[in-house]
Amino acid sequence: MKSIPTVPLPSGRAMPVFGVGTWRMGECARERGAEVEAVRAAIDRGITLIDTAEMYGDGEAETIVADAVGARRDGLFIVSKVLPSNSSKRGTMAACERSLKRLKTDRLDLYLLHWRGGPALSETLDAFAELKAAGKILDWGVSNFDTDDMRELAALDTAKECATNQVLYNLTRRGIEFDLMPYCAERGISIMAYSPLEQARMLRDPALNEIAKRHRATPARVALAWLLRQKGVVTIPKATRLDHLDDNIAALDLALTADDLKALDARFPAPKRATPLDML
Ligand SMILES: NC(=O)c1ccc[n+]([C@@H]2O[C@H](COP(=O)([O-])OP(=O)(O)OC[C@H]3O[C@@H](n4cnc5c(N)ncnc54)[C@H](OP(=O)(O)O)[C@@H]3O)[C@@H](O)[C@H]2O)c1
Repeated sequence: MKSIPTVPLPSGRAMPVFGVGTWRMGECARERGAEVEAVRAAIDRGITLIDTAEMYGDGEAETIVADAVGARRDGLFIVSKVLPSNSSKRGTMAACERSLKRLKTDRLDLYLLHWRGGPALSETLDAFAELKAAGKILDWGVSNFDTDDMRELAALDTAKECATNQVLYNLTRRGIEFDLMPYCAERGISIMAYSPLEQARMLRDPALNEIAKRHRATPARVALAWLLRQKGVVTIPKATRLDHLDDNIAALDLALTADDLKALDARFPAPKRATPLDML
């Protein structure tokens, strides 16, 4: 695999543009072995970005990541998230400690507020600042923040440190291109596109399949290549099946042509007006 490009973060660190997700992992004991193996296989293949959250499998996804990582923590970029219900200052500090323990690590590369709600945003940011000063998180960001939420964030003292906004973004969910994406781009805030395959629901689409056929590729590869060609966009497809993992990695080598992009725009049009942010 060729080396994965990165996006710069306000801290001066860098985040790979491609990684793996772990939602739905840790929910079924019978699947655990395959899930650990899938994350381990991703690391074996050179993927360093792993996205998880305290919510996933009620903490079990983080333990799966820990088992997959083993002694290879250095060089990885591990992301986790605090639930809004835990996002008071004290709650965030405590949630982070629990995540660190489950992940068997002393630091998170990136810690996100999973979505808006609960305590004042300033409390969460105060906790992020303390966790950062203590070296327990190296960067922080937000998730599922719409443009209004980003404006509210911008008024707070440490807002300039915000490294990313992780949101639902894929060919079938292009609403953010109208306002949220330009807002973030102007401020150097990367977009982490979650559910890049619309949880596999988009993969039967005829237009996507037609383009895939032209490249002897798969619809998933086309959908991911479409995201990866965009500046400041990071994506984190989840795959427990190893053939899916390899297919997704191959998207890094797929260059879409101007004709492909035209066909994709015709089938999945860019937004013409502001729409509220979708969330899964
Ligand atoms: N911040 C948030 O609120 C939020 C919300 C949703 C997701 N996320 C993050 O984003 C990650 C990705 O999103 P997601 O898990 O919702 O959905 P996704 O990555 O769009 O899709 C995952 C599904 O697609 C299948 N798949 C993967 N690669 C495939 C391929 N090449 N061909 C056919 N099927 C393929 C997977 O099957 P197998 O697993 O069987 O291989 C799985 O069922 C999550 O895991 C999570 O880390 C964050």
